[in-house]
Amino acid sequence: MLLKDRVVIVTGGSSGIGRSISLEFAKEGAKVVIADIVEEPKRGKFFEKEHKPPVATEINDNGGNATFVKTDVGNQDDVEELIRYTMDFYGQLDVLVNNAGIHIPGNSQELSMSDWDKVIQVNLRGQVVAAKNAIPHLKNSKFGRIIQIASINSFGGGLGPAYPISKAAVINLVHDLSIELGPHNVTVNAICPGAIETPIQDYMTKEIIEEYLKTIPMGRFGLPKDIARAAVFLASDDANWITGEHLTVDGGHRAKV
Ligand SMILES: NC(=O)c1ccc[n+]([C@@H]2O[C@H](COP(=O)([O-])OP(=O)(O)OC[C@H]3O[C@@H](n4cnc5c(N)ncnc54)[C@H](O)[C@@H]3O)[C@@H](O)[C@H]2O)c1
Repeated sequence: MLLKDRVVIVTGGSSGIGRSISLEFAKEGAKVVIADIVEEPKRGKFFEKEHKPPVATEINDNGGNATFVKTDVGNQDDVEELIRYTMDFYGQLDVLVNNAGIHIPGNSQELSMSDWDKVIQVNLRGQVVAAKNAIPHLKNSKFGRIIQIASINSFGGGLGPAYPISKAAVINLVHDLSIELGPHNVTVNAICPGAIETPIQDYMTKEIIEEYLKTIPMGRFGLPKDIARAAVFLASDDANWITGEHLTVDGGHRAKV
């Protein structure tokens, strides 16, 4: 087991990529705190259509150790309570996976400023607030890690004026935090997923998905597990000296000019 007895918080862990990260971390022996606005997994139009049990239930039923804490990462009080709960319950915190994220479609004319605020609040402020509150405890861990889920949209436009900005900023946050936390032996890295089969794709149409597939050299969307295993690697001892980096996991999408 690569992560035996490490205590991990996964924000947005109920569905999609966060769900898979929670499951894979638990398989590697981690104790997982799932922090999400809802415990029930989302059911998508195209992906993850079938009913699944809450991830904490699935982990505990399979002999693992997981807890759900209702948390809106856009709400500072919720995040402070999440960290307090984790410390009271498990007595340590080793890994923060900042995964919760939303996308609201619309270009500069269509997207309202209140929707812009919402995206930034969850995707960017949420990651900053969670890191800020987790860091004092991560510094006390022998295996301190922050893993931020960014996106290939960190590097280009085309998805409106909110989502790509929020994801671009997350890359800079990784650089900044890695400098701050290097002396404390805490690593900070991002994963930049390409298109992954999760309910976040519900805003697309079947036709858009078919066109999109043609732009991916490997010819398929990624599976949540493709991202989850990259996260396991970054949290493991194999990545002890990797910090301030972003790992693109996209089936070759960005390799094409
Ligand atoms: N799926 C993709 O193609 C893709 C690509 C690049 C990056 N990402 C990023 O990966 C992360 C996970 O995306 P996904 O595809 O699994 O999405 P998803 O919609 O399938 O799941 C997101 C989870 O986050 C939770 N969540 C939403 N707002 C929250 C909040 N305020 N506080 C706590 N939890 C909240 C949701 O309830 C849900 O369980 C996001 O940051 C997303 O931007 C996804």
